[in-house]
Amino acid sequence: NLVMVLNGPNLNLLGTREPEVYGATTLDDIAQMLTDQGDRLGIMIDLRQSNHEGHLIDWLHEAGAKQAIAVILNAGAYTHTSVALRDAIKSISVPVIEVHLSNPAARESFRHVSHISPVAAGVIQGFGAQGYALALDAAAAMRLD
Ligand code: DQA
Repeated sequence: NLVMVLNGPNLNLLGTREPEVYGATTLDDIAQMLTDQGDRLGIMIDLRQSNHEGHLIDWLHEAGAKQAIAVILNAGAYTHTSVALRDAIKSISVPVIEVHLSNPAARESFRHVSHISPVAAGVIQGFGAQGYALALDAAAAMRLD
């Protein structure tokens, strides 16, 4: 009953990074919120962050090997650039829920392309830190399917 929550580049700076775009909530706050929610749902949360593309790929493989219920993935800017992350998602049978704090569709045009969305189970974007909680509820619902 594992959900891995993988966060990409610059998300370690949440809370101080462009708070007008990404909010004041830190990644530690999000980890705490999800752990509490996971306790209520009977789901173990493993939240990680890396600024390195390869780490995210290794962790997706690990989620596959561990047969996680789902991966919640905020790939940050790699969303818009990484074919390798997309291929990693295709390589595992674990559903991936793509999350963004902001709504990239309402921002610069280079954020309108996601290499993740076509291979994701679904996408939650524009709801700030609350999006992670919505994604965890979606993961819990999948478990019941
Ligand atoms: C982001 C959106 C991306 O475009 C951006 O590069 C990020 C954060 C978000 O959560 O809104 O780093 O993934």
